[in-house]
Amino acid sequence: MAEKPGAKPRSRSGAKTRAKKDDFKNLLSPIEIKGVVIPNRIALAPMNTLMSLDNRGYVNDQVLAYYAARAKGGCGLIITECVLGTELASRFPYTSNLHCFNASHMPGLAELAETIHAFGSVAFVQMSIGFGRQGHSHAGERPPAPSVVPMMISPEYMPRGFGKALEKHPQMIERAGGELPYEMSVEEIRREQDEFANSCRFAVGAQFDGIELHAPHGYLEHQFLSPLTNRRTDLYGGSLQNRMRFLVETFLKVREAVGPDFILGVRMSADEHLPGGFTHQEALETARTLAALGADYIHLSDGSYEALKYFFPDDDGAILPESANFKKAVEVPVICPSVHDPHTAEEAISQGKCDIVSLGRQMFADPEWGNKVASGQVDKIRRCLRCNECLMRTAAGLPVRCIQNPNTGRERFMPEYWRPPIKAKPVTKMRIPPKLPELRRFS
Ligand SMILES: Cc1cc2nc3c(=O)[nH]c(=O)nc-3n(C[C@H](O)[C@H](O)[C@H](O)COP(=O)(O)O)c2cc1C
Ligand code: SF4
Repeated sequence: MAEKPGAKPRSRSGAKTRAKKDDFKNLLSPIEIKGVVIPNRIALAPMNTLMSLDNRGYVNDQVLAYYAARAKGGCGLIITECVLGTELASRFPYTSNLHCFNASHMPGLAELAETIHAFGSVAFVQMSIGFGRQGHSHAGERPPAPSVVPMMISPEYMPRGFGKALEKHPQMIERAGGELPYEMSVEEIRREQDEFANSCRFAVGAQFDGIELHAPHGYLEHQFLSPLTNRRTDLYGGSLQNRMRFLVETFLKVREAVGPDFILGVRMSADEHLPGGFTHQEALETARTLAALGADYIHLSDGSYEALKYFFPDDDGAILPESANFKKAVEVPVICPSVHDPHTAEEAISQGKCDIVSLGRQMFADPEWGNKVASGQVDKIRRCLRCNECLMRTAAGLPVRCIQNPNTGRERFMPEYWRPPIKAKPVTKMRIPPKLPELRRFS
């Protein structure tokens, strides 16, 4: 069931209880991925907050303070919103995204990684090769996609409360509908992959600890995976092996570009949940393939714009049953989103259903979630109502706000989220991406 405002944990008899720190020993235990120690199992889920404001893709003070608040609030791992990784991708944003595809984007991203580190968290950047038919041109262009397939948004696949919210924000329907895409040529696919792999080198140079490839939710990689949106008859369409090719090739090119020692994970939908779409079994097979090729973790999500109620679940822990299947399928860590209740999160980790929980909307409602769990003040957590007002705002093209937390989106005005002064300490070790053959370099 969705959380009630200010809901307090209760014992079986109905009496109010106060959680103890020890109740969350799994959730609060560290986990190591490729030598990087994440201090607990709490991650900020990647969320595009539209705080890049101008669609020129640069980090600003609001972006820094928003992430600082979640790092300071006890997220051991911060995963950034999806950052567009090619020039073509940047022409078809959601509304306004961060960019990382040339050297001018690096300094701002480096400030962001440094800020997250200054507040004691590990920093992963989520990199996107594009939104395909779910992207929007500001210049009336058609977006690139595997095949020419229009969007079909149907009310039965919408989360609870969306009807009401849509009345308030009618622009959302227009945006969600997307534009009719064009079919990418094989040459363009390979050019995009090469540019994207090179962009990931800028992210390494910006001193992030890891990169997460953004392949869920009906975006470009997902469109290649799905038989609904991939009608190709060439090497990139047809069998699962062919539909997986775009993601696998992209993964391998990025791996080559960032080197074997750098953390590289993949986010994907556990199921498309649409008749004739990418199935849960196919998703498990894809995850197995990626893990065998060296993916360092799998971050799950679910659904797509056309199956939005799975993308933004109404119920706590809705993705955990699928996550448990991924845990059986792969040996690398599995991150599961949308577990807002700390007791459910603790139980899921202790029962081996996931290794890390990623919190999205709950972190808009209360960035101090992690600290409150760690200090046994679970009853003080300001609960997310899953009302989707935050989402509606961004869908309407406005930066994120939360009805439970008036400070979300205004963190730049709060000095506690300004980066603390650092005692002089020379930078001794920098991450530098490996050398690439001359032909594969972009400037
Ligand atoms: C405003 C908003 C923006 C989002 N942007 C992204 C994104 O950039 N990348 C991504 O993988 N997921 C994105 N998500 C999905 C979240 O990461 C998360 O999977 C989803 O919100 C469900 O988890 P929750 O119930 O904790 O919110 C976004 C969610 C919201 C609410
Ligand atoms: S606005 Fe968003 S984050 Fe805030 S309570 Fe509603 S769903 Fe949760």
